[in-house]
Amino acid sequence: MKNKYSSFIVPLALLCLVYSGALKAEEQAAPVGAINIKQTTEAGTYTQKGADTCIKCHDEDEAYPVFDIFKTKHGQQGNKQSPFAGLQCEACHGPGVAGAAAMQVVLDRGGHVGKVRPGQERPPILNFGIKSDEPVEQQNGMCLNCHEDTSHIGWKGSVHEDGNIACANCHKIHTARDPVLTKKTQPEVCYQCHKNKRAEFYKPSSHPVRFGQMGCTDCHKTHGSAADDLLIKPTLNQTCYTCHAEKRGPLLWEHAPVSEDCSLCHTSHGSIHPALLSKRTPLLCQQCHSQAGHPSLASTGAGLPGGSPSGFLLSGGCINCHSQVHGSNHPSGVKLMR
Ligand code: HEC
Ligand code: HEC
Ligand code: HEC
Ligand code: HEC
Ligand code: HEC
Ligand code: HEC
Ligand code: HEC
Ligand code: HEC
Ligand code: HEC
Ligand code: HEC
Repeated sequence: MKNKYSSFIVPLALLCLVYSGALKAEEQAAPVGAINIKQTTEAGTYTQKGADTCIKCHDEDEAYPVFDIFKTKHGQQGNKQSPFAGLQCEACHGPGVAGAAAMQVVLDRGGHVGKVRPGQERPPILNFGIKSDEPVEQQNGMCLNCHEDTSHIGWKGSVHEDGNIACANCHKIHTARDPVLTKKTQPEVCYQCHKNKRAEFYKPSSHPVRFGQMGCTDCHKTHGSAADDLLIKPTLNQTCYTCHAEKRGPLLWEHAPVSEDCSLCHTSHGSIHPALLSKRTPLLCQQCHSQAGHPSLASTGAGLPGGSPSGFLLSGGCINCHSQVHGSNHPSGVKLMR
């Protein structure tokens, strides 16, 4: 094994030797594991040497390199809660020898880790994500054995759970840096399924997600949220105020739609109109304000009061005069002009 990992495989092997003694003792009394691993989804016989057995066949030279897991939090034996302080690979992949009843592992063949005679198929072991044949619920159950209490308060009943999305659809485990946890690489993970969102963030006016300055998780709580659309705050406006605090006020002269719902005028992801507006002025404003009796009637010269067309008006959207569209603190700002 001449690769960059050989230097730590030896200490790992030694550790596992020491460890396997402990594991043997534990084997009798399932559920096993240093922490709150509830073996609710899988019960059975685990290998005696844990990862050492697996890495005899699965290593860095393979089509699927597995060792990068040791660079992640999961690979840290020092943390008593981590898989490698307990059942190791099998904490996620399930028992390697026998037991995975749903998968009908034939006991006397020694399960997935055993010898396989020519012509025979190797009994399968639990896999994750798109390559897996197992129900999503079973896959996620392995992760939730450890994660239910911590990060998954909202997961049960969330749109993603209801949509039958696997943890492994978003999370990569055998990579040093899980792309979904980094702002720069996260959007691509989401675009796999939310394809139209990519187009939205490429529109001329957009939140700077495509430059890696923001991630979806600046506004969304992907595991579940009490708010609509998985927003991080209870309302849409509160979500926007986390960064655009100045729009919250308090203001002397409020503009009613602003305190009600930013999305009455703005799109959240991107727009072909400037400033993420859903429409251009005057159309934007005229959704609610009638043109009657007001200078703004003058989209043509004929409509101007007093007759003389002003270039300012002709070119002007409403916000040329009503510049304080979000509200005003000026004593005479009642018409949102200053
Ligand atoms: C924290 C959970 C977890 C642990 C621990 C874990 N794996 Fe995995 N493994 C996964 C997930 C999830 C996938 C699916 C693909 C991915 O996330 O990269 C996977 C994929 C694999 C695959 C690829 C199967 C394929 O589709 O080709 C192999 C092989 C594998 N793991 C072996 C191991 C070995 C060997 C160990 C121990 C050294 C181990 N795994 C530890 C979660 C885990
Ligand atoms: C004796 C060699 C050997 C050992 C030991 C072994 N595997 Fe495998 N494993 C394989 C082979 C070969 C495949 C590919 C099977 C196929 O493509 O049909 C595989 C496939 C897998 C897969 C993909 C899912 C599947 O069933 O095809 C995972 C995940 C996996 N192994 C994890 C593990 C884990 C975890 C351990 C330790 C508990 C382990 N393996 C021990 C040889 C081994
Ligand atoms: C045996 C328990 C155990 C199992 C099983 C397990 N994890 Fe973890 N996981 C942990 C621990 C411990 C941490 C580190 C927590 C910390 O340090 O904050 C962690 C961290 C993580 C992190 C954060 C990584 C980071 O860099 O911050 C993700 C994402 C994660 N796990 C996903 C999964 C997924 C997906 C599965 C199922 C394929 C899974 N875990 C299975 C124990 C487990
Ligand atoms: C739709 C994509 C998606 C799915 C599905 C998903 N996650 Fe996550 N997960 C994320 C994102 C994005 C983050 C980063 C959260 C952040 O930065 O606010 C994260 C963070 C985490 C973390 C570390 C931070 C924390 O909240 O403690 C763990 C652990 C984790 N996920 C486990 C899981 C498990 C277990 C499942 C399956 C039950 C799962 N995730 C399903 C996207 C997902
Ligand atoms: C600046 C905050 C913000 C960011 C960043 C953001 N979103 Fe949203 N998203 C929202 C708001 C607010 C809504 C609900 C109202 C709406 O649709 O405008 C929403 C709605 C959604 C919806 C459901 C409604 C629909 O349009 O289909 C999806 C899916 C979604 N966002 C995905 C994403 C993805 C994927 C990313 C990252 C690539 C992302 N969002 C980044 C604020 C944001
Ligand atoms: C494997 C596919 C898949 C991936 C990957 C995925 N989603 Fe989803 N997402 C769904 C499905 C399915 C739904 C529910 C149906 C729908 O509204 O499209 C959904 C719904 C949503 C919603 C709308 C919630 C609502 O209340 O309507 C938001 C927001 C969202 N996802 C954000 C994200 C973010 C952010 C990511 C990346 C971290 C992500 N999704 C990754 C499949 C996925
Ligand atoms: C995580 C921080 C954050 C959140 C939350 C957020 N924004 Fe932004 N917003 C930004 C950043 C960063 C910019 C870009 C500023 C720049 O380019 O100078 C921006 C720009 C804008 C712009 C101006 C775009 C332009 O082209 O001038 C509008 C309008 C806007 N956001 C509305 C909203 C709305 C509405 C919400 C709530 C749905 C929201 N923002 C939530 C950070 C945020
Ligand atoms: C009545 C329509 C309307 C509503 C509602 C509205 N905006 Fe705006 N917003 C505008 C218009 C019009 C512009 C463009 C102003 C300009 O070009 O001078 C703008 C520009 C912005 C900008 C970029 C320029 C600046 O002033 O910083 C941000 C950020 C912004 N809005 C955030 C918000 C937030 C956050 C909310 C909700 C609290 C909100 N807007 C509600 C109409 C609205
Ligand atoms: C979603 C509906 C809506 C949109 C869109 C909207 N407004 Fe308003 N606007 C209102 C409401 C409601 C009031 C409060 C009316 C009242 O108090 O009589 C108001 C008040 C005003 C006032 C102050 C009127 C007064 O007598 O004090 C001005 C000026 C104004 N809006 C200008 C605009 C401009 C300019 C735009 C476009 C950028 C716009 N509005 C877009 C609903 C809207
Ligand atoms: C040339 C400057 C100018 C432009 C452009 C303009 N307004 Fe006004 N607007 C005013 C003035 C001045 C008042 C105050 C009139 C008064 O007090 O009688 C006013 C008042 C209003 C009022 C309060 C109700 C009223 O009639 O007094 C609303 C609502 C309003 N404008 C909406 C709009 C909308 C919507 C547009 C764009 C279609 C627009 N304005 C374009 C100057 C302008």
